[in-house]
Amino acid sequence: MIAIVGAGKVGSAAAFNILKDRISDVVLIDLNAELAKGEALDMMQAAPAIEFDGKIQGTGDFREMEGAELVIVIAGQGRKPGMTRIDLMNINAKIIRSIVKEVVRYAPDCKLMIVTNPVDVMTFIACKESGLPPNRVFGMGNILDTIRFRSYIAQELGVSREDTHGLVIGEHGDSMVPLVEYACVSGIPITTLLSKKQIEKIVKQTRTSGADVIKLKGATTYAPGAVIAMMADTVLKGRNRVMSVSTCPQGEFSCPDVSIGVPVVLGKNGVERIIELELSAESKLLFQESIYKVKKAIATLEF
Ligand code: LAC
Repeated sequence: MIAIVGAGKVGSAAAFNILKDRISDVVLIDLNAELAKGEALDMMQAAPAIEFDGKIQGTGDFREMEGAELVIVIAGQGRKPGMTRIDLMNINAKIIRSIVKEVVRYAPDCKLMIVTNPVDVMTFIACKESGLPPNRVFGMGNILDTIRFRSYIAQELGVSREDTHGLVIGEHGDSMVPLVEYACVSGIPITTLLSKKQIEKIVKQTRTSGADVIKLKGATTYAPGAVIAMMADTVLKGRNRVMSVSTCPQGEFSCPDVSIGVPVVLGKNGVERIIELELSAESKLLFQESIYKVKKAIATLEF
């Protein structure tokens, strides 16, 4: 069973994708129990039309997460137009700390996935406060940036999105690093298919992609909802898919005391291993700057 804490737009979209894709039963928890119950009821009623039999329960009671294999935390304030993810930090840090206490009490054997922004800082807090092994705590960030990077490569080239591949590392925020040197279309490096100017445009679109949606409709929903389900699928089925997630490296990439987006093998135990990469001189510098930015944010956390 998967427990999702936070029944807002992203939490509900994630729950619906998890059910629709037959990944797992879902318990949707929110302090606003009516909201969680209403979302669950709506999804249950949709079930015959899309032929899923998974159970969905909405509740305000944290005890219902007992036995969850994966707990996904999405609760917290979302970004308003013009706000950076870091602006949200101190408000959401308090929320994460209190939820982590409940997770440790009721689902101590779970994998804990953080979505609340700023996700790298929140994942760091969850890792420290939970005392869970670092491989079992990770954040959804750069995989969403990667999906957006792939969408823009496909759009620019007029090719199937399925054949575009890439990696984004670093902060899930303005300092993210789309790795141009590893992006390809069916194995063909994008540097041989696109001009420097086109690549610069795609990198910029990727960096502002979330904010662009927020500016238009106030929040992102479908992309994070789909990506959370994709991560849930690889964890619950032990698929060992390779993707960038926010994690606390244990010696890799020489960046202690931070949670940051790096490529990992994601499976049954959460982060099965971190994949260290050779980076171009430019990406290396940008990645260092991104780590520094997240560390600086952590240093200014109010306790
Ligand atoms: C986004 C939020 C989830 O990028 O951070 O859509």
